[in-house]
Amino acid sequence: MAKARLTFADINTTITVPAGSRVIEISDKVNSGIIYGCREGDCGTCLMKVTEGMDNLSTPSVLESKILKEHYAGQDFRLACQAQVLGDVTVRPA
Ligand code: FES
Repeated sequence: MAKARLTFADINTTITVPAGSRVIEISDKVNSGIIYGCREGDCGTCLMKVTEGMDNLSTPSVLESKILKEHYAGQDFRLACQAQVLGDVTVRPA
């Protein structure tokens, strides 16, 4: 299975993860400062900033795009519970 490197800038930690992992699954395990609520792409609590590798995340779903818009999120932001890691990415809490 393909692997990818996911870096949490706030805790200076890089984890090698199976491609397709959702950021929240990993951030939860390593105690990154990314917080969450619903885990279903509905509340927007898990908003994170992507500082490198935005193109290495899955394309936002219609639902995620709607929540990002509702939170006035800029181009560098994604929902950690929705974004799947497909290649090397660096993120930090919003
Ligand atoms: S935890 Fe609610 S949108 Fe991600």
